[in-house]
Amino acid sequence: MPTVPTVTAHNGFSLPAIGLGTYGLWGDAGADAIASAIRSGYRLVDSAFNYENEGAVGRGLAASGVDRDEIIVTTKLPGRHHGTAKARTSIEESRSRLGVEVTDLHLIHWPNPSQDEYVQAWEALVQAQQHGVVRQIGVSNFLPEHLERIEHETGVRPVVNQIEVHPYFPQEEQLARHRELGILTEAWSPLGKGSGLLQEPVVVEVAAAHGISPAQAVLAWHVARGTIAIPKASSPEHQLSNLAAVEVVLEADEVAAISALGRSDGRLFGGDPASHEES
Ligand SMILES: NC(=O)c1ccc[n+]([C@@H]2O[C@H](COP(=O)([O-])OP(=O)(O)OC[C@H]3O[C@@H](n4cnc5c(N)ncnc54)[C@H](OP(=O)(O)O)[C@@H]3O)[C@@H](O)[C@H]2O)c1
Repeated sequence: MPTVPTVTAHNGFSLPAIGLGTYGLWGDAGADAIASAIRSGYRLVDSAFNYENEGAVGRGLAASGVDRDEIIVTTKLPGRHHGTAKARTSIEESRSRLGVEVTDLHLIHWPNPSQDEYVQAWEALVQAQQHGVVRQIGVSNFLPEHLERIEHETGVRPVVNQIEVHPYFPQEEQLARHRELGILTEAWSPLGKGSGLLQEPVVVEVAAAHGISPAQAVLAWHVARGTIAIPKASSPEHQLSNLAAVEVVLEADEVAAISALGRSDGRLFGGDPASHEES
């Protein structure tokens, strides 16, 4: 089992450099895949109310046989639950579906700026943390202006911002802002989710130079840049090899060559947080 390095936020909270994405892991097969990942050494598991898999995540967690205290379970508050009362109920519902007393990391899934209730959603998470039912709180898909506003209005800074990051969309500026603030960056779709990224010649060349797979080269690129990748993998083979990428050290010129795949708007799914509205 590889020793997975950690990255630490402004408040001392640490996360492993690679976690497990779970979108699409549903039902018994999903629970089995999550259990196998935890047994392979994953200690950070992503999920969301809207993935409709919190039940499978909870069952995977229990079936893994690994101590609950060792695992960081993440979930996310959906857009339609941003209002204060709905947010409180949603947090309870997520805990109940996951089958846990405390969620370790609860995020706001999207800011939904035109709805303009993300400050209320943040206040609900702050209160849930004060009541001890959520250990750490953070956000997802927040632009710097959204981060500034929630901190300005509540005095509480998120520990994590989970955003789209992969070589087609390296997000240098937003990552620099996170570093200044001590906010950890979790990278979603870190492998570019079936976009052809793993067939890019530069990725294939770096992989060949290290005798590793293209997916491992991309994950090592994330580790080198200090972002926490959460690749989704259903097979034990992919899960193991993805986690083993923490042991690969890329040269600075290799990191730069992979970053050169970046495009000014390299978003793969059109999810611009300034306009995207999540239900
Ligand atoms: N916050 C948000 O708004 C947001 C948005 C999107 C995603 N997410 C989170 O981020 C996670 C990851 O993103 P994603 O699922 O979109 O995409 P991804 O992790 O970039 O790619 C997943 C795909 O890569 C394949 N794969 C995994 N390991 C591989 C390997 N070693 N070699 C070749 N192929 C491999 C998987 O196949 P197999 O399953 O067959 O292994 C799957 O088809 C999600 O599952 C979710 O938890 C969050």
